[in-house]
Amino acid sequence: MSDKVKARQRIDELRAEIERHNRLYYIDAAPEITDREYDQLLQSLEGLEQEFPEFGSATSPTQRVGGAPLDHFESVKHTVPMMSLSNTYSKEELGEFDRRIRKLIPEETFDYILEPKIDGVAISLRYENGELVRAVTRGDGTTGDDVTSNIRTIQSIPLRLSDMIPPTVLEVRGEIYMDTAGFSKLNERRQEAGKEPFANPRNACAGSLKLLDPREVAKRPLDAIFYATGQLDGIVFETHEQMLQTLKDYGLRITPNYWLSSTIEEILDQLDTLENMRHEFPFEMDGGVIKVNERRLYEPLGSTAKSPRWAVAYKYEPEQAETILHSISIQVGRTGVLTPVAELEPVQLAGTTVKRATLHNEDEIRRKGIKVGDRVVIEKAGEIIPAIVKVVTEKRTGSETDFTMPSVCPVCDGEVEKREGEVALRCTNLQCPAQVKNWIAHYASRGAMDINGLGESLVEQLVDSGLVKTPAELYALKNAEVLGLERMGEKSADNLIKGIEESKQRPFEKVLFGLGIRHVGKGAAMILANEFKNIDALMEVDVQRLETIRDIGPIVGKSVVEYFQSMETRTVIDQLRAAGVNFEQAEAGGNNELEGLTFVLTGSLETMTREEGGDKIRARGGKTSSSVSKNTSYLVAGDSAGSKLAKAEALGVTILNEEQFIALLGSDEKRKDQQAGQMGFIF
Ligand code: IVH
Repeated sequence: MSDKVKARQRIDELRAEIERHNRLYYIDAAPEITDREYDQLLQSLEGLEQEFPEFGSATSPTQRVGGAPLDHFESVKHTVPMMSLSNTYSKEELGEFDRRIRKLIPEETFDYILEPKIDGVAISLRYENGELVRAVTRGDGTTGDDVTSNIRTIQSIPLRLSDMIPPTVLEVRGEIYMDTAGFSKLNERRQEAGKEPFANPRNACAGSLKLLDPREVAKRPLDAIFYATGQLDGIVFETHEQMLQTLKDYGLRITPNYWLSSTIEEILDQLDTLENMRHEFPFEMDGGVIKVNERRLYEPLGSTAKSPRWAVAYKYEPEQAETILHSISIQVGRTGVLTPVAELEPVQLAGTTVKRATLHNEDEIRRKGIKVGDRVVIEKAGEIIPAIVKVVTEKRTGSETDFTMPSVCPVCDGEVEKREGEVALRCTNLQCPAQVKNWIAHYASRGAMDINGLGESLVEQLVDSGLVKTPAELYALKNAEVLGLERMGEKSADNLIKGIEESKQRPFEKVLFGLGIRHVGKGAAMILANEFKNIDALMEVDVQRLETIRDIGPIVGKSVVEYFQSMETRTVIDQLRAAGVNFEQAEAGGNNELEGLTFVLTGSLETMTREEGGDKIRARGGKTSSSVSKNTSYLVAGDSAGSKLAKAEALGVTILNEEQFIALLGSDEKRKDQQAGQMGFIF
């Protein structure tokens, strides 16, 4: 047998093997191998596919995340419209639903089937001859968005159905949802990054599917469950249950529980059972869907303009609880915003004990007429953070008191202000400990100065003990001072001081981002650093000039100018400069060697992370991109480089290994060191 034939065979075997493990993991929840072993199988397959690109396939398990970001989604007409369900909150109306059906088809005997109603985003997948060809959102029911490249990133969705003779066309409909545990983690990460958290898993899911870059979607904890069909060709299902079981055999996830019964009365009981299980599912469930099980009856039952007559959704009331509002406390965030928080008598709600609820801002307290001491109704309607829905005014005793926002910051007694056009109150004191902790944590974070060993709890201690009030004071820290902190050994103290020292070498754009200027994220910091080259030029700039820069809008512009107008800011910058922090773009001395060149980094590098590699390229005027195209100048390939390497080879892009890449940066690295030395002398 030739090598080629052997490779083909092995590729097929590996694909089938990986798909089997996917099914075991995602569908049967009974994995047979460890994650590591799974990754090894995937790597072997990637290796072979690179060696033999002629055997590439769009449905290979290696091809989940591919392609460049889109600039928009194509609209696609559904072959069979995606209908919605009629809804009810009342069990009486379910009785009417049953009577209507029995009147329409008096001679028939049939069963009902009850499933959870998943609170996610509806999707239609089209498999042709077993291969996933398209995924379309519901849209208006007639036309939706083609989100295939995003859907392919969801690991539990098979790119190929597991059947030797699959139907010619199988359209399945279901719900994409964000796993509740994954949702909480995602929100934690967003808050750490200073981003607005998502209100609930459904919003997070819908937002994720709208992302144009599938690589970003791949990072979101999305999953799917299927419960209906669209166009079918070459397959017929007699009952809904049979359809569900067949989908499961194909490797598509279906609801973990369903109930069959011949009477609506039984279904009413099962609805209670289902409601009690509400918090056991990994998805948010907002009700139950009752469907006729016999599919031959769908046609005679027909549908109204929007929904079929053979199904109905019973929605559970959002979970509410009554409790006492003891007090309203104020939280101060990194940007100085004062947020009122309701301190409640602890109460059980939706499976957890609730002690606090957000009140957002003063306007909301006024709107809802909330007084301290009130009995209030709180609700968790898909919202993870409970909210106060209303005051039980009938239960007022007269001892309740009005709440007013404090006129000074509760943390530092500093002045507070309301900015034009904003509802929030802000503390204006940059030295406010609440702001300082967040400011320093942000300065030290990975995306900014990346100070090794300086995590949140250490920041907390440094600020509380009075050792550090600004990022600049980090550079004055002495080993002995750090050693005096809780749980701090000699080695970690040394490492911290070393980490702080090393941060002086970070590129200017990182420093700029680390300063924590409102609205200046990593991207804006990079643009500003490239445009102005040093902090002095940036400090003198006005809004008009900033607005001439591409991708810098008026909000960022105004914020930058305001930031540098503050005396406190100027003092901190002077101190940072005196400590030796880098306030100049590296290529300031005409060092723009990589200008005009575009690099793609892939695989893992030994001496640096890909992000650091990217920084080095950009510091020399080069560009980085995340996808290989004919415009790519170099592909830097680290260990276990995957499909990008294959694509670069196919396009004839020059490939550099890590050593060659370092050599390319090489001469330049030395020059940068000399410059850094000089800078220390000048300032
Ligand atoms: S059946 C023709 N089953 O609820 C009817 N829908 O309000 C097809 N949904 O658009 C839908 N869980 O997004 C069905 N088990 C379930 C469901 C479900 C959630 C969603 C679906 C639909 C909406 C209707």
